[in-house]
Order: sequence, then C-alpha cells, then structure tokens
Amino acid sequence: MNNDIEEILFDQQQIHEAAVRLGQRITEDYAGQKPLVLSVLKGAYLWTADLIREIDLYVDLEFIKISSYHGGVTSSNEIQLVTDVQSDVKDRDVLILEDIVDTGQSLQFLKDLLKDRGAHSVQVATFLDKKEGRKIEIDADYVGFDVRNEFVVGYGLDYADLYRNLPYVGILKKDIYS
Ligand code: PRP
Repeated sequence: MNNDIEEILFDQQQIHEAAVRLGQRITEDYAGQKPLVLSVLKGAYLWTADLIREIDLYVDLEFIKISSYHGGVTSSNEIQLVTDVQSDVKDRDVLILEDIVDTGQSLQFLKDLLKDRGAHSVQVATFLDKKEGRKIEIDADYVGFDVRNEFVVGYGLDYADLYRNLPYVGILKKDIYS
C-alpha cells in the first residue's frame, strides 16, 4: 500500500501537532459551552479520534454519513445523506469535523441541514482545506492544513474506499487511478 504513494505531505507528528493546536483553540473558543461534535463519516473518523482528545471540554459526540465522491477522484455535485445524526441538534452549538473541504458542497449541505433543524451555531473544523477546489464560497472555521489541488489519501481519506488506514497523508500516484 505504501508503494502507491508519490509523496508524503503530512506525517504523524505534524498531524498530532495540528490536532493539539486546533484542540487548544476550540477549548478556548467554546469555554463554558457543551458543543455537539458532529463527525462526518467515513473520512473524518481518525481526525475525530485525535482532535476530540485535545479538546478539554464536555462534548457530545455524534456521527453523520454523507457521500459525494461515490468512489471516484472528483467530488460529484450530488450529496447523499447516507446515515443521519441520531440526536436532536435544535439549539445546540454544533462543531462539524470534516477530513477535507474541497468543492465545499458537502459542507454547505451539512450547514443548511443543521440550520434548518434549528442548531444555535454551526462551525467547522476540517483536517484539510483544498481551497483551489471550491465551487461555492464557504470557509471552515478551523483548518489543520491547506492542501494543493492533488488527490490525497490516508488518515481517513480514501480512493475507492482504500488507503484510509495510512497513518499519514500523501499524494496518490497517478497511475493508480488513471
Ligand atoms: C469527502 C469528504 C468530505 C467531502 C468533501 O467525502 O469526507 O465530506 O468529500 O468534498 P466537497 O467539499 O467537494 O463536497 P466522501 O463523499 O468521499 O465520503 P467519505 O468521507 O465516506 O470518503
């Protein structure tokens, strides 16, 4: 599996440091609150596990599963709600945890959904931010790393549902998917 990677972008130590940095900021920003942390499956599961351990607050943890890539290398325009959140988000301060914001369509879909359901506030902590990929104007509130417009895998991010278990983030060799 490791041989399929062209270049490592962020290693385990860098990822840990990003989680510590954002965890401290979130702890300060949400002081006195009990946010509902909403992890977006599947991609954000490792980021969620690492980041929430750096947040020194009482939090509720929930999951939601949406799908936009449908197994390919580019985001589709159609977002599907695959598994809904199990608890009521009304009046809650929701912190969405994403692995990557690319076109921004998944994030817009989630924000609209949560606002429609009466969330008090909705913010986003994304592990990766691929700003060049944006199709709509939307920004994350907390960003682990900016990434260039390459197809990256690892640390939760997949190609055809593989590579999520790489402990680092790397660029996938083009011959793997072309
Ligand atoms: C990925 C990622 C984000 C979304 C970002 O999910 O986890 O949710 O795409 O892309 P966008 O900004 O262009 O909408 P994906 O649909 O691949 O599902 P997965 O997390 O299960 O891999």
